[in-house]
Amino acid sequence: MRRPAAGNTGGLHLVHGRAGRFPVDGIFLGDARELLREIPDGIVDLVVTDPPFAIEFRAARTNYHRTGSRVLEGYREIPPEDYLEFCRDWMEQAFRVLRSTGSLYVFSGWNRLRDVLQALDDTGFTTINHLIWKYQFGVFTRKKYVTSHYHILFAVKDPKQYRFHKAEHYPEDVWVINREYWTGKVKTPTKLPRKLVERILTFSSRPGELVLDPFLGSGTVPVVARDMGRHYLGFEIVPDYFEFAKRRLEQPPGREEK
Ligand SMILES: C[S@@+](CC[C@H](N)C(=O)[O-])C[C@H]1O[C@@H](n2cnc3c(N)ncnc32)[C@H](O)[C@@H]1O
Repeated sequence: MRRPAAGNTGGLHLVHGRAGRFPVDGIFLGDARELLREIPDGIVDLVVTDPPFAIEFRAARTNYHRTGSRVLEGYREIPPEDYLEFCRDWMEQAFRVLRSTGSLYVFSGWNRLRDVLQALDDTGFTTINHLIWKYQFGVFTRKKYVTSHYHILFAVKDPKQYRFHKAEHYPEDVWVINREYWTGKVKTPTKLPRKLVERILTFSSRPGELVLDPFLGSGTVPVVARDMGRHYLGFEIVPDYFEFAKRRLEQPPGREEK
């Protein structure tokens, strides 16, 4: 019998390489809050996402020592007062589409961390680890400490069934991974380093499984998923970011400009 294109994900709905109306190994332009609702229940193995923040990002962005003209415009923010509800909304859908063995990794700055943790609890997730990603290029400050870390919440749908591929003997919860600096290239302001996504995929997915990122930005999650032999699905609301991610995915694996 021919295996479905999605390989050993083997889910009821993931036949002939489709996740509902979405062809697997595709990214789609649109609002994740709507598109997520069109994914069938229980077919995703891993959600990895760095959702929009609830800060005035435009102001923060100028601090990244990057030339504005080379940074893609149009970043979508959520007002702080709406952030908890926004998190609950997409996390409820993430919970629904995950398999019982599946996991979620969600990135958060410290400023709305309370909303992210609250929404994880409210939507049925069990938080397993609170990881710290320590990076370089923290923004210079005069009267406070320089923020040079990010939070990553590792949460699961079912604490009795989730899969964890312990790739190291002693994997600590503080990860020191440098941001990538793309000299002279068009960039999105919040691109995740490949190494970080590779680490997550190594511990929480296997080749052939389906990885979802509902808030793609520059598309690092699907690019790494593809390069590591995972299937992917992703959404992005800003056309320029979507096109940028699409172009990255059109490059043959390993041939991407740094
Ligand atoms: C923090 S960035 C993601 C960065 C990404 N991890 C990377 O490596 O480039 C969040 C992304 O979510 C997008 N976004 C915001 N609201 C959205 C929505 N409702 N649906 C889909 N994408 C959305 C933003 O345009 C932005 O590109």
